[in-house]
Amino acid sequence: MVLVYKIKKMNAQELKHIIPIDYSYKPETNKNYVYFAVDKKQDYIKILKDIKKKMQIQQKDVITLADKKLKKIEKKPHSIKEILKNKGINIDISSFEVIKDIAIIDIPKKLNIKKETMNEIADAIMRVHPHVKTVLRKASAMEGEWRVRRLELIKGEEKTITTYIENGCRFKVDLSKMYYSTRLSPERMRIAKLVQESKKNEQILIPFAGYGPFAITIAKYNPSCRIAGIEINPYAVEYFKENIRLNKLENIDVYEGDARAIVKTKFNSWADRIIMPLPKNTIDYLSDIIIGAKGESIIHVYAFSDRERMFKDVEEKLDKKIGKEYDYQIINKRIVRPYSPFVSQVVMDIKIRRKNRQL
Ligand SMILES: C[S@@+](CC[C@H](N)C(=O)[O-])C[C@H]1O[C@@H](n2cnc3c(N)ncnc32)[C@H](O)[C@@H]1O
Repeated sequence: MVLVYKIKKMNAQELKHIIPIDYSYKPETNKNYVYFAVDKKQDYIKILKDIKKKMQIQQKDVITLADKKLKKIEKKPHSIKEILKNKGINIDISSFEVIKDIAIIDIPKKLNIKKETMNEIADAIMRVHPHVKTVLRKASAMEGEWRVRRLELIKGEEKTITTYIENGCRFKVDLSKMYYSTRLSPERMRIAKLVQESKKNEQILIPFAGYGPFAITIAKYNPSCRIAGIEINPYAVEYFKENIRLNKLENIDVYEGDARAIVKTKFNSWADRIIMPLPKNTIDYLSDIIIGAKGESIIHVYAFSDRERMFKDVEEKLDKKIGKEYDYQIINKRIVRPYSPFVSQVVMDIKIRRKNRQL
């Protein structure tokens, strides 16, 4: 229990170093006074004596009891781990993703977590991230040709659609109908900067474009480039078009369908740069997509690589696929993100030129 006192505003600064104020109650002010709380157990007589001694003033002029209630400030816990630990739950959920107002947690089914515990985890996330209104749980890996994940609702509003900002661009996405990953955000910006540095009005081909995160980031920072995005999932295509409108861009064309067929019929020898963000099948599709490259082009190949043979496994497959027909030089290779305990997603920036021309 606390008592509320009032103090003249002009004395407040000095007195706050003498009086043991309980800051778990929010001090209030009006024109003349500051109101603050002091624990009832504090020795009021001693406080007054201290004031008198240290400030050499009559204490009654300075501090008096007030008939007022102050608002208790709820102590915000520092981390989800701390909240859960206080409830006796020791589950590591460090790898959850927040996309605007939706959090997605990854708790393997084999852990057999009870429904009540899942609820507590969702509560903890919502407490630490008050803007989160929905907590979903990954119910599968990214599956099928569209690379879509099944999700199940744990707590909050039943929704999978949200709009978030990444690298200054707005993206509307339906997490249950298309591939998403905010973790690729730095990679998208890296490519946008490379395009800027090339200082050419590039023609850029993005097969496997999804709802447009690569295309839109590149287009926004390179308005004089022409970008063609190809996507097979009609839901992603719809959101891609919507996102182009949201970002008021006019330098992107969207094509719905199989990238292999569309490149063959519409983009033969067209692109200065090709971006292939389809790590699972990228090497299989390479021969059909690379024909979209002009004589000399840059191609960014995303792939999964075994940590034990990091990059080497991808390089060998790459050479088998394009080595006969193209001279090529890997100008940069890097790990984009860890994918599983044994596999990383990598990217290689490759300069290519059809054989019989010089690099
Ligand atoms: C890993 S996701 C990447 C999406 C997006 N680029 C991103 O970064 O969020 C790969 C995308 O390729 C699309 N896709 C798969 N096979 C395709 C094909 N043959 N032609 C065109 N798109 C395809 C999938 O539907 C999916 O949206």
